[in-house]
Amino acid sequence: MRVFVIIPAAGIGTRMAAGSHAAAPKQFLSVGGVPVLVRSVRAFLEVPRVDAVCLAVRGTERERVESQIHEYKLGPRVHLVEGGENRQGSVNNALLALECDDDDAVLVHDAVRPLIDEATIERTIDAIERHGAAIVGLPAVDTIKQVERTADGAIITATVPRERVVLAQTPQGARFGLLQRAFSEAEADGFAGTDEASLLERAGIEVAVVAGSAKNFKITQPGDIELAEFYLNQAAGAGAR
Ligand code: C5P
Repeated sequence: MRVFVIIPAAGIGTRMAAGSHAAAPKQFLSVGGVPVLVRSVRAFLEVPRVDAVCLAVRGTERERVESQIHEYKLGPRVHLVEGGENRQGSVNNALLALECDDDDAVLVHDAVRPLIDEATIERTIDAIERHGAAIVGLPAVDTIKQVERTADGAIITATVPRERVVLAQTPQGARFGLLQRAFSEAEADGFAGTDEASLLERAGIEVAVVAGSAKNFKITQPGDIELAEFYLNQAAGAGAR
């Protein structure tokens, strides 16, 4: 079983626009002096059994990414494809470009989760090998409410038992054949999901969950860069002790 990684990195980061980092999409912002995307790619390159990492980027961003690959010596395992209109489109473009066998593992990771660690990546690959499909999920610690949106906020309609809930993170992945089937069924039905698991689930494929961590959060809003730097400093301090 070979292991391929897809990193969709073609977002424009509109939720960040209200803050102080409005100039660049969030995957190109710097965390501790290194671009978010480079940190995400490096995490996967540190796993020896990862054969290749395929980045989906906007055409207008290709040169910038190529020069980062060169500057940070990311090496020949990294490849580029054109991004799509949404996350699913970006991942689909990469799936079409991969030369995989049906039983190879394909992991998809958000470019904007730069603090993913090697152990979690390894556990996800192991779970795909064992179960066919797997995602990283964070157990819910808050009480979860189902709501109906209203003009001035929301009204609670139910309380969801939190032991039955995990918050979906990435990486998410499956054997190539399963993922490809889930994507083509979604495309045929005009279904757009915000993660791979939702496509796998609707295709009737069982998806296992491996434990995630709060550190593996998605850089989304102003303040998140500072939070990522806090975690990095904490890890550097722990390493020094
Ligand atoms: O914006 P969102 O949280 O959905 O982004 C998740 C990931 O999908 C990010 O890494 C972003 O760059 C990527 N994305 C993409 N192509 C798009 C939109 C988002 O690759 N058109």
